[in-house]
Amino acid sequence: MKWTSLNELREKYLSFFESKGHLRLPSFSLVPMNDKSLLLINSGMAPMKKFFTGEVEPPRHRVTTCQKCIRTPDLERVGHTARHGTFFEMLGNFSFGDYFKKEAIPWAWEFLTSPEWLDIPPEKLWPSVYVDDEEAFDLWHNVIGIPAERITKLGKEDNFWEHGTGPCGPCSEIYFDRGEKYGCGKPGCRPGCDCDRFMEIWNNVFSQFNNMGDGTYTELKQKNIDTGMGLERLACVMQNVDNMFEVDTIRRVLDKVCEISGKTYGENKDNDISIRVVTDHVRSAMFMISDGVIPSNEGRGYVLRRIIRRACRHGKLLGINHAFLVDVVNVAIAESEGAYPELRERGDYIRKVLSMEEERFDATIDAGLNILSNLIRGAVKEHADVISGEEVFKLYDTYGFPIDLTREIAEESHL
Ligand code: ALA
Repeated sequence: MKWTSLNELREKYLSFFESKGHLRLPSFSLVPMNDKSLLLINSGMAPMKKFFTGEVEPPRHRVTTCQKCIRTPDLERVGHTARHGTFFEMLGNFSFGDYFKKEAIPWAWEFLTSPEWLDIPPEKLWPSVYVDDEEAFDLWHNVIGIPAERITKLGKEDNFWEHGTGPCGPCSEIYFDRGEKYGCGKPGCRPGCDCDRFMEIWNNVFSQFNNMGDGTYTELKQKNIDTGMGLERLACVMQNVDNMFEVDTIRRVLDKVCEISGKTYGENKDNDISIRVVTDHVRSAMFMISDGVIPSNEGRGYVLRRIIRRACRHGKLLGINHAFLVDVVNVAIAESEGAYPELRERGDYIRKVLSMEEERFDATIDAGLNILSNLIRGAVKEHADVISGEEVFKLYDTYGFPIDLTREIAEESHL
């Protein structure tokens, strides 16, 4: 297998599935259309739910996309680990009542292992199947030829995919073995283990049920395939790097943050956290703004506002004392505009929204931060473990200091 850039990997994947009769569609917007169950698109299938249920006729019954996705449940963890991020791209091939398992599994294998495509050594790849799915097991074992002991059977928690209401089903995942040095060394270590050795790269969902949202499932009229492979994770494998912040296109954004702050990545734990926060959040904000989200105090506008404010604060922690988001976003745009031309077209607008929000935050943050630091100092001195609700409210009400940021900063001092 040979080093491949993130942008090339995206292209390879989409061309491979075009060669299998799929229609390549551009990514859908991050803002869901007619779907109140989601704030932001979080997977490749999410914008196409109605093609899976058969309610809407798709432009073709085989489709492939690279979908912009945002997941924010772990927002506070972003930066603190190198694993978490909010924005990612999901590669997917989809069948709406067309092909099913016996095509999907061999194609996934061909793309990953064929010397013409990614050429990943087969012994590095470990499939898993849903515990009762004999058909998928049989395909991996008898058609692809994977020894039975290398196919892991997992239960509903790992191998049944659903996200809110809508199409869902059992799945078969493909894990990449990163080697013993990442492992826990326990005898039973294999896919599904909590340690870092086996990294899930691809999920093939056999979408055949509809989660009605009231605890019941119905059979879908048609059998579908919904797959998802994290582009950044695949790039980690193909570039032999540890995490997404080391992937070529993202690393160049990170390097810009280092250049502006005069800090070196990998030298100081706290600086690294802030460098990763700014890198991830500027990319997320860029894609959200380009899809029409504007900072506000509710819903997805609030997610955007939080993300931008977190980036600003971590810029300050890095010692940057001037507006800097535009310089970072310019690099992020340059890295992704080939695949997402809307970033170039809306570049001025993205820069404007970012800098307005940055300015607005700047006007409130300094006063608020000073007061909060005093409160924290006082609380620590008194061995308290909380700051009073009254003070937190005053910070918000009088100084416009957002409560989630107060919470995050207080937590850093164990309050
Ligand atoms: N929808 C599946 C996922 O997001 C493929 O993992």
